[in-house]
Amino acid sequence: MAFISICSADAVGEGSMGLFQAGKKSILLVWPAGGELKAYRGRCPHADMPLTESSFDGRKVTCLHHNWGFECDTGKCVTHAVRNALHPYPLRIEGEEIWARSGSPARRAEGGRQCLRHKSKQKGRPRGRPFLWAESTAQYR
Ligand code: FES
Repeated sequence: MAFISICSADAVGEGSMGLFQAGKKSILLVWPAGGELKAYRGRCPHADMPLTESSFDGRKVTCLHHNWGFECDTGKCVTHAVRNALHPYPLRIEGEEIWARSGSPARRAEGGRQCLRHKSKQKGRPRGRPFLWAESTAQYR
């Protein structure tokens, strides 16, 4: 998936956030105070609700549907003992515009968790196994 233009570079300042629509995707841009500008999918990883109802305190985005909070530098949930995290998108600033590549699971490219759907396609895995095949699925519960 190609990078798409999200907004002008001055649309989001340090210590603020903005939710933008790019085609069918909503993209959350957050720039924590003293940190780097980040792009995330504009939906909450708790119940897939839009982050239109959210607040930002300069370090943490809080979804107001059920008050889950996500740390902006990593996207990890910091209010509940869960592994849910905001879905990161690759981001770049070119000229006067901010560009993001939505639809590409940046976390997988960084060596993070993978969807079980792709697990059976890894090298060394027998082909033709059921969708959830693994030595043990306990680690995914
Ligand atoms: S949908 Fe965001 S906290 Fe529940």
